[in-house]
Order: sequence, then C-alpha cells, then structure tokens
Amino acid sequence: MAVAVGRPTAKPEAENPLTGGLERLPVPPTTLVIFGATGDLAKRKLLPALYNLAHDGALPQRFHLIGVARKEKDHEDYRRECEEAIRRFSRRPPDADVLKIVLENVKYVPGLFDDESVYAELHKLLDGFEQQAGEPLNRAFYLATDPSFFAPIVEQLGRSKLAHRVDAEVRVIIEKPFGTSLEEARELNRRVLAIFDESQVFRIDHYLGKETVQNLMAFRFANGMFEPLWNRNFIDYVQITAAEDVGIEGRSSYYDKAGALRDLIQNHMLQLLCHVAMEPPVSFTAEGVRNEKVKVLQAIPAPTPEGIPAMSVRAQYTKGHAGGEDVPGYVEEEGIPADSITETYAALRLEVDNWRWAGVPFYLRTGKRLARKLTEIAVTLKPVPHLAFSQAGSLGVQANQLVLSIQPNEGVSLSLVAKIPGTRMAIRPVIMEFLYGTSFLSQSPEAYERLITDAMRGDATLFTRNDEIEAQWRICDPIVKLWASTREGLSRYEAGSQGPEEAEQLLSDGHRWRAI
Ligand code: BG6
Repeated sequence: MAVAVGRPTAKPEAENPLTGGLERLPVPPTTLVIFGATGDLAKRKLLPALYNLAHDGALPQRFHLIGVARKEKDHEDYRRECEEAIRRFSRRPPDADVLKIVLENVKYVPGLFDDESVYAELHKLLDGFEQQAGEPLNRAFYLATDPSFFAPIVEQLGRSKLAHRVDAEVRVIIEKPFGTSLEEARELNRRVLAIFDESQVFRIDHYLGKETVQNLMAFRFANGMFEPLWNRNFIDYVQITAAEDVGIEGRSSYYDKAGALRDLIQNHMLQLLCHVAMEPPVSFTAEGVRNEKVKVLQAIPAPTPEGIPAMSVRAQYTKGHAGGEDVPGYVEEEGIPADSITETYAALRLEVDNWRWAGVPFYLRTGKRLARKLTEIAVTLKPVPHLAFSQAGSLGVQANQLVLSIQPNEGVSLSLVAKIPGTRMAIRPVIMEFLYGTSFLSQSPEAYERLITDAMRGDATLFTRNDEIEAQWRICDPIVKLWASTREGLSRYEAGSQGPEEAEQLLSDGHRWRAI
C-alpha cells in the first residue's frame, strides 16, 4: 500500500543555489530504519523531524519507517511511543490526520544489534514493503545507538547482504560521536568503509543542518562586499562561542568520558571555523565544499604537548545559579566521580596557517552551565590606523565587529561607529542588524529535518567526510591526551558565570572575549 505522507497543499521545494540545485530533486521512495529507535535522540529529534517533514509534504509518497531496539514490544506499542514522542517534542502541535498517516505503517523489530535474527527480520520487512510497492525502494539505515554499536551494526548489515543493491540506493547515516580519538575514528572509518562505499555514508554533525550555519555560506559567497576584507590584512581575530546554560542533563556516563573538547569543539565548532575560513568552492557539491573544508583543517597545525598549555584552557563548573535555578557543581552531579577531571569548559586559540589567515587567531570556547545559551561567530576587523578627531564625549569606540549569531537570536549584526547627534564630534558604536525572525517571519526547520531528507536524497554536502573527521581529530587528539594525563591546569568557574578567569590568558594584543 502506498503511503501518501505529504499534504496535498505541499509546495514544490525551492531551488537552492547552495546545493547546486540538488534540492529540487524529490526524495526518492525510501524505507528508513532507525537503530536505537527508543533512545533519546530518536524521541527528541528524529521522530519529530519525520513528523514535521510529513507535515510539510517533504517525505516521499512512499515512505516506511522501521524502528530497531533492544526492548521487547510490538508494532502497536512502538507506534504509541512514537506518537507520544512527537506530541512532546515536535516544533509544532501535531495534526491528527498527518500523525495517523505517518504512524500507520511503522514497524518495530526488537533484538540485540549483533543478533543475526534481527537482520533476517529486517530483510523480511524490507522485502515485504517492496513487494507491496511493486518496485525497489531505497534504504537508509540510521545508527542512533550507543557508538560502540556503530561498527557491529554496519558489519551485520554487510553479512546479511543489506548493504548493497543493484536496483536501489542503500545509505547509512551515522550519529556522533564518530570515535573518541584519532585512532578510534580511523578504525571506525576502516570498518565502515570495508562494507560501504564512502558515497553511501552520511556522518552527522547536526550543526551543519542549522539554517544559520548554512547561511554562513550564503553570507560569504553570495555577497560581494565581504570577500575583499575576509583575510589577514583586514581581520584582527575571530571568536567562536558555543555557550550553554544547561548542565549535563542526565548524560553523566557519556559526558564524563567525553568532556567539552570532544563533545563540541572536535565537531561542531571546528565545522563553524571551517565555514568562516574556507575558500569559495568551485561548485556547491558535496565534494567541492568538503574539499575546501578539509584544506582548512589541514592548515591548522596539530598542537604539541609543549604548546598546549599556552593555547588552551579547561575548567569545570562549581555550584552556582544557572538557567534560573541553584545548581550543583559538576563533581556533585549524579553519576560523576568526585575526583573527575573531565572539563565542562574548553577554550582554544588556533591558527590557520595559509595565505589568507596566517597570524589571525581563531579563539574557540564552549562550556556547560555558563550564563546563557549563545552560539555565535564574531569577526573583529583591525582598528582604524588613526582617529583624526577628538574623542572627548565618545563612548567605547571599538573596531568594527561582524557577529554571525547562530542561536538563539538568529541573525547577523555589524557594529559601526557613528557620530552622536549634537554639536560635538563625539562618536560611539551602533549596530546594523538583520534578524531571521523579522526578515523571514517563518519558523526555521530543525537541523534534523534538513539532514534526514538530504541523506535520503544522497546529497552529502552537509555531512562530514572520512578525511574531514580524521582531520578534526588530528587537531583535538593531542589536547585530549594531555588533559587526560594530568589534573594540572584544570580551572574552575561558577555555574551561571562567564567561564573561568584563566580564559583571558589565551587572548593576545588587546583582544577581548565578548560577553555571554
Ligand atoms: C550535542 C552535544 O552534540 O550538541 C550536547 O552532545 C550539546 O552536549 C548539543 O548540548 C548542543 O546542540 P544545540 O543544537 O542545542 O546547540
């Protein structure tokens, strides 16, 4: 039975110059199999994303969903769980008709991820859907499990002859974290690529699905005015912040092994850096864009053990007031050992050693339990060489700063200096601003909505390639190793604050952290 998930009113998708027009292609008929189907990610992100895609008419006419997880339950139980998750986490209140259509064909396969019978059952269901359809259907396997299962699942898919078809596409979507070190990432790449071709593999970094991150490319490459300034001659420094007011949100066993550097810098923040620093790609194809990002990562020298203390700061939060409540310190959180040295805050000073950027510091900082949630990129231009007029009565004159606000107040602002009205020549900074909310008056889709459809279409532009992942690890690995080996240099900051005072030491030449 064909499942028409799209609403009849759905508009055809707009042409998107950033993906070379690929977005105009409809999503082909697909069966999506989610491994880890009862986990947090599936409930909070994947199922609501599927619902919202269906609501927007963006799923293919023939779409099937199969959930795989350990817990014993039947199809009906799983459908009920899906409905609950969608009702709770969807960005819009679900419409009963759409919900019914999305859920009526959902199947569930219980079992261990290394159990062959699970794959035999999957085979049966997948073949059954194709017989009903009378045509081959593409297959996308989404690995939303604990990372220790990624390689075993891929290998089982290979053994069960589910990894390749001659008459349809098979794709595998792999969640983060992709390894916890360079060695592990290489090994995982090796095991995945022993079964799948790189063109079938979609490694998720959900920041790439964010509208504002994609807008970085539009901003840089569709506006002529910034390119002449976008280099070491005019830019003084770049500051990338990913601050959160939340703590570890019950994820103690994951977080205490990961820490801030692995959790956010190794992936999301290095991706943001790449978007700022990359050369314009010749074409907006997956290979064109990813080739340029890899070149940026390769131009960042790998930190040396002797150099790491001067280019990095790590810290842990102590008790304080964050997100509107009194909160415990990190080592008092449930499940965290009292002597943990895992960092909940990390800041780095990186350089991109190429002709465009040599000598320009890129400051990256991220942390849990900071003053508020804020992700932004601030590009500070060099100050004017000489201010010709008197500054009496002037207020805080600063170099021009361009702030690309990723979340929550999505937009772009440029600080300029203007004359204060009056009889004196006094000046102060003013802001020119573009805000998504007021310019577009529409809600942006969640990152996962974009990423799921791109993966089903086979467009890998917004996914991380094997060499890109390894290049990211090459930068972070030496720091991870040094930090794990000693408690020395681990600072503290109060929950709800701006972070550790030691972060100031990373900055040079009068550079300043922006307020969080
Ligand atoms: C995830 C991290 O990748 O990103 C989380 O594991 C973090 O610790 C989250 O909270 C932040 O994502 P976003 O989209 O809320 O900025």
